[in-house]
Amino acid sequence: MRLAVIPGDGIGPEVVAEGLKVLAAVLPPDVKLETSEYDLGARRWHATGEVLPDAELESLGQHDAILLGAIGDPSVPSGVLERGLLLKLRFAFDHYVNLRPGKLHPNAVGPLAGNPAVDFVVVREGTEGLYAGNGGALRTGTPAEVATEVSVNTAYGVERVIRYAFELAEVRPRRKLTLVHKDNVLVHAGNLWRTTFDAVADEHPGIATDYLHVDAATIFFVTRPERFDVIVTDNLFGDILTDLAAAVTGGIGLAASGNLNPAGTHPSMFEPVHGSAPDIAGTGAADPTATVLSVALLLRHLGHDREAERIEAAVAADLAERDPAAPRGTEQIGDALAARLAG
Ligand code: IPM
Ligand code: MN
Repeated sequence: MRLAVIPGDGIGPEVVAEGLKVLAAVLPPDVKLETSEYDLGARRWHATGEVLPDAELESLGQHDAILLGAIGDPSVPSGVLERGLLLKLRFAFDHYVNLRPGKLHPNAVGPLAGNPAVDFVVVREGTEGLYAGNGGALRTGTPAEVATEVSVNTAYGVERVIRYAFELAEVRPRRKLTLVHKDNVLVHAGNLWRTTFDAVADEHPGIATDYLHVDAATIFFVTRPERFDVIVTDNLFGDILTDLAAAVTGGIGLAASGNLNPAGTHPSMFEPVHGSAPDIAGTGAADPTATVLSVALLLRHLGHDREAERIEAAVAADLAERDPAAPRGTEQIGDALAARLAG
């Protein structure tokens, strides 16, 4: 297993170290793990001015998968690393599925704690929409400034992510797919999403489908999240909804994600949904569980289903023993999970 590792900024290196610890503990002896670490992020940018040189992009592409911690630092102008590194990787490696499970673990804390029926997956489009960088500014810095960001939605891009979501719904017990958009306002993009969704739905008569405007979806995420199974949505709606999803399924410390290239033409990339959390970086307080669960997604993507399930079971058992009055640190949680898997 050739794994590229990008620890990145803030708490990234701390949580990635625990993710790798757990990976080493769960891998069967016949799988030889080779990791290559990439020094990318704020430190590198300050030292050299480089964000993601072509040679490194090329070399990252030679791996079976990428594990990423977090990108972004307040000392770097906003967007430089986010666009130049994280989004560049998603676009260059055609990560058109951004898979973000929202499962309420038993014993997780939060507003919905104890509701066993919360188990959904958000399929967020990863290469288009408002993230495409299709915009510009005129008369910058003057009172007459005009700024535009135009959402890019191609028939090709919309259809492939919707197809992935239907195929995923086919293998889930509840077999339901919800399209989330805002087609009462974003009529052009909304029309493309809805007509494509309806056309692909005809090929999946066994899947129950529905549609929600994104604002209404935020209400249901809080009041009735058990109504969701698979959700498909565009890049920005998916970004916002999955932070909310994390908040209602045990917190951002548990939310995992996979940036998938389902065709396998480039490596897929796995990362916690949370950011670099500069306020707690270096304190050892970050919860590495989201990274550990992202490692489980990575293993499943590479066909190691049994190991993925073992990690998820270890996390569930660990969550059951967590005491909110005595929070453990990053390393302690990683050690506890690794010990469970080794034992
Ligand atoms: C995420 C993050 C990124 C995004 C940022 C850091 C560019 O918020 O992975 O959800 O907006 O996609
Ligand atoms: Mn986000």
